[in-house]
Amino acid sequence: MSRERVIILGATSGMADATARLYAAEGAALVLVGRRADRLEELAADLRARGARAVEVAAIDLADASRAAERLAAWRRGEAVQAVLLFYGVLGDQSRAEVDLGHAREILETDFTSAALWSLAAANLLEAQNSGALVVVGSVAGDRGRQSNYVYGAAKAGLGVLVQGIAHRLALRGSAARAALVKPGFVDTAMTDHMKKGGPLWAKPDAVARMIRKAAGAGGPVVYAPGFWRLIMLVIRVIPAPLFHRRAL
Ligand SMILES: NC(=O)c1ccc[n+]([C@@H]2O[C@H](COP(=O)([O-])OP(=O)(O)OC[C@H]3O[C@@H](n4cnc5c(N)ncnc54)[C@H](OP(=O)(O)O)[C@@H]3O)[C@@H](O)[C@H]2O)c1
Repeated sequence: MSRERVIILGATSGMADATARLYAAEGAALVLVGRRADRLEELAADLRARGARAVEVAAIDLADASRAAERLAAWRRGEAVQAVLLFYGVLGDQSRAEVDLGHAREILETDFTSAALWSLAAANLLEAQNSGALVVVGSVAGDRGRQSNYVYGAAKAGLGVLVQGIAHRLALRGSAARAALVKPGFVDTAMTDHMKKGGPLWAKPDAVARMIRKAAGAGGPVVYAPGFWRLIMLVIRVIPAPLFHRRAL
């Protein structure tokens, strides 16, 4: 078994849990990073039982990326890093963000600024070891600004461009390290508990997790999850503004 570690940023997320189970079944060593220590310990126990070679937890606020490079280096514990997976994020409240700029800042700083800094630090680590994958979870919400979620969408759009840029950089330099952006549509997790769920547009975290696991190994650099969202968002992007502005999407 290889002596490599998988670092999961935002390990308490529903999608992260489903993805961590896939790695545990492969016998990977995992580092679970999140802000809820009790939940991280619960997840760690479950993942050990599912076959993970080792599981370490780190309870920190990921919105603070000031020591990202140092922290990632410490979590290696002298081993190579197989993957850095970035899941954490907040949907926020769009209506509130329009009038409460502090809330808008919280969404932007969590979903873009800190996520961008963790991604850059991870890219540098992976490029230096010349192996491994950075997989970042973006969103189809980043494909076109819509009145219902455009602060969140703007942050995800910015993060998406950053990850695409990292993928381009690694490819041009001939690095064996890679980067991928996974853009889910509607996924049945805690983030969407306020929404009415069901129907063909909704995916289960397990299905998205399989695509994330695959994206860490090959393909990309932009993966829609499930794949039909690529077509839906292509159509959404080309709808002319006069038509688009007539509907509350
Ligand atoms: N669900 C969807 O329909 C959907 C669609 C497209 C994209 N996404 C994206 O998918 C990713 C995973 O979300 P999910 O659907 O799995 O929802 P989730 O279960 O609500 O996960 C979001 C996670 O982010 C964590 N988090 C937020 N701010 C944090 C911070 N400052 N420090 C540490 N952890 C923080 C939360 O931690 P706590 O548990 O402590 O709150 C939570 O575990 C997110 O980036 C989301 O934007 C979701």
